[in-house]
Amino acid sequence: MQLIHDVAQLRETVRAWKRAGQQVGLVPTMGNLHDGHISLVDQAREQAQRLVATVFVNPLQFGEGEDYQTYPRTLEADAERLRGHGVDVLFAPGVEAMYPSGLGSATRIVPPPELTEKLCGLARPGHFTGVATVVAKLLNLVQPDVAVFGKKDFQQLQVIRRMVLDLNLPVRVHGCETVREADGLAMSSRNAYLSAEERRQAPALGQTLRWVAEQLIAGADRSILEREAVARLKQAGLPAEYVSVLRATDLSPPRPEDAELVVLAAVRLGRARLIDNREVRLRH
Ligand code: PAJ
Repeated sequence: MQLIHDVAQLRETVRAWKRAGQQVGLVPTMGNLHDGHISLVDQAREQAQRLVATVFVNPLQFGEGEDYQTYPRTLEADAERLRGHGVDVLFAPGVEAMYPSGLGSATRIVPPPELTEKLCGLARPGHFTGVATVVAKLLNLVQPDVAVFGKKDFQQLQVIRRMVLDLNLPVRVHGCETVREADGLAMSSRNAYLSAEERRQAPALGQTLRWVAEQLIAGADRSILEREAVARLKQAGLPAEYVSVLRATDLSPPRPEDAELVVLAAVRLGRARLIDNREVRLRH
């Protein structure tokens, strides 16, 4: 595995693969890799002969007062893990390499408000612009045949799919199922912020979403369920930012005939902000 920090070197390496007719896969991350990230790498590996993983803590997607400075940076351990999973190139650029014009004056990709002015977008204004911009840049740099993202960040995945559609980006986007700890907590680099006591409380998030999913299948009303889920989370010590049942395809309010729904939630737990979601398929 080659560790590359430089944009020109990355382009050159990928160009040689493409000349040889090889399919290229891309897995973007912010590092501090866990089994969730590794499952994306393994699934990308199955779909392409060459694989680029990226580790870049993207300042453009962090808001004021968020954890950009303290986000765990563990490049050596990350490189070690990726080496064992068939990654050809680990691209880990510095901020200057990614934003040569400076952060303030970088050209941005602004996703449509119907996808961003809800859920995590409300608490994190500008976040999805930062995500879309950096992902567009990585797609342009690598020009992969397939790019792999996790459903753990369901809204992010929708934003990326929409950008690829709207901007005619020549890439297939593949979404992977969420990888969980044994007790159901969705794996996340931010779980490291939890104290031992908070870590014991955290599985209530996934459990509550599973309960909502079961109730939806049993025919319960979604607005009542959203309110009841917030109350249950509060009881479990997890104050909710939101619990929403939406259409899985475009995150719009569900219509009675919709069969593919998703329940999404964000909670505060100590220093951490945890998100999770669960897809639901109704039989009408
Ligand atoms: P990061 O949080 O490092 O996540 C990188 C990728 O791993 C994302 O596609 C995310 O959805 C996926 N992922 C995280 N936890 C997962 C889990 N438990 N199971 C399955 N997949 C999981 O998301 C980002 O970084 C950034 O916003 C990025 C897309 C890299 C742009 O900066």
